[in-house]
Amino acid sequence: MRITSLFLSLLFVSPLLAATEPTPTTPVERGRYLIAISGCNDCHTAGYIARSGKVPESEWLIGDTMSWSGPWGTTYAANLRLRLAEMDLATWKTFARNAVLRPPMPYWALNHMTDDDLEAIWAFTRSLGKAGVPAPAALPPGVDPPLPAFSLHLPPAPASAGK
Ligand code: HEC
Repeated sequence: MRITSLFLSLLFVSPLLAATEPTPTTPVERGRYLIAISGCNDCHTAGYIARSGKVPESEWLIGDTMSWSGPWGTTYAANLRLRLAEMDLATWKTFARNAVLRPPMPYWALNHMTDDDLEAIWAFTRSLGKAGVPAPAALPPGVDPPLPAFSLHLPPAPASAGK
């Protein structure tokens, strides 16, 4: 009996859930979708995790002053709206394909993106316009980061990371 009513409620609810996210069509829409699902905002948008993702788009991707420290020193999630405004599409694709960055940036996700995905992220981020200030500069190993800071106990970053 219970199982039948669970099944019936799933039958009712699933089409409603599926209908909430329209398939993106333009590069800008696809970029918005990729940024929303691939976790970029978690680090590159200040307060995104603390506010459970309920942050207006006008505040997306402006970087964060919260630092990440470990054997690589201290890093900050960059202001992508300013960074991508400086790059034309070809420069961005070359950068993203070859990027080796310091933790906790999952640069391998950028390395693996298709041309269309990179173009979509570039188009969407630039459509937001320039805003905010550059994130603080990274600090070398052994320098205490200002607070708040995440401290991570990981192996060293690849030698070429962040160069
Ligand atoms: C877990 C946190 C985290 C996530 C998730 C994350 N980033 Fe980053 N990102 C960082 C940090 C920290 C840096 C700075 C790395 C450094 O200084 O070497 C960075 C650097 C970058 C840079 C280089 C900026 C520059 O000025 O050179 C780009 C581009 C970038 N991230 C794009 C993205 C995109 C696109 C996504 C989503 C697919 C993403 N990041 C997800 C933390 C993150």
